[in-house]
Amino acid sequence: MYFIANWKMFGDLRSLNSLDKVIKFSKSNKINKGRLIYCPPYTLIRSFFKKFENCQIDIGGQNCHESEIFGPYTGSVNCRMLKNIGANYVIIGHSENRKNGENNKLINLKIKNALKAKLKVIFCIGESLNQKKKNNTKLILSKQIKVGLNKIKYKKNIFIAYEPIWAIGTGIIPKPKDLFDTVKFIKSKFKDKSQKVLYGGSVNPQNINELKKINNINGFLIGAASHNSKKFIDIVKKTYN
Ligand code: PGA
Repeated sequence: MYFIANWKMFGDLRSLNSLDKVIKFSKSNKINKGRLIYCPPYTLIRSFFKKFENCQIDIGGQNCHESEIFGPYTGSVNCRMLKNIGANYVIIGHSENRKNGENNKLINLKIKNALKAKLKVIFCIGESLNQKKKNNTKLILSKQIKVGLNKIKYKKNIFIAYEPIWAIGTGIIPKPKDLFDTVKFIKSKFKDKSQKVLYGGSVNPQNINELKKINNINGFLIGAASHNSKKFIDIVKKTYN
């Protein structure tokens, strides 16, 4: 199982102390290598990298610019730059960025360049409440996958994160049967039956016992609850208990 902490625009240098608990936890428990991944804001990636030097917690960025090389893009960071400072992962296609105008084609370009930069990609897909109400979930997900992964043959370094927009930050999670079926549907889009699909959207220590029973999910992308080390550890512990 993979546990990815998406810190969004939260955290400053003081937050580093809160990681001690997680580092201790990762050492004392038999968490397999690379299973805990932190995606802090860009400003903290290097500090997290150094903090995690002697443990097996991995680091990722939360987005990237689509250009493979340096360029005149004020405020942006590309995947080579992320790799250069110690990131091994990058989240691409998060709905909070899609909302700001990222479309499937742009996401496709970002994913291609992330893979070239040797980053693993956490590729977010998910439908809005409106799309769900109109019964368009499968249509939307199919399109996001088709265009987002267009002309990408080697998909071993891509993790799909299914994040229904209506579940993010709302405290609401999908019904277990619906979630199982949607994850199954997503997996059916891939030739490789070992394609990893994670779930994200309001994962917390209270609902993890229900979520962990859905046995086709390969991990969780965790926002708010991951900013609190105790909650994050709780989620991991409960998943394995
Ligand atoms: P949440 O965020 O856990 O706070 O709902 C998840 C995400 O947006 O990745």
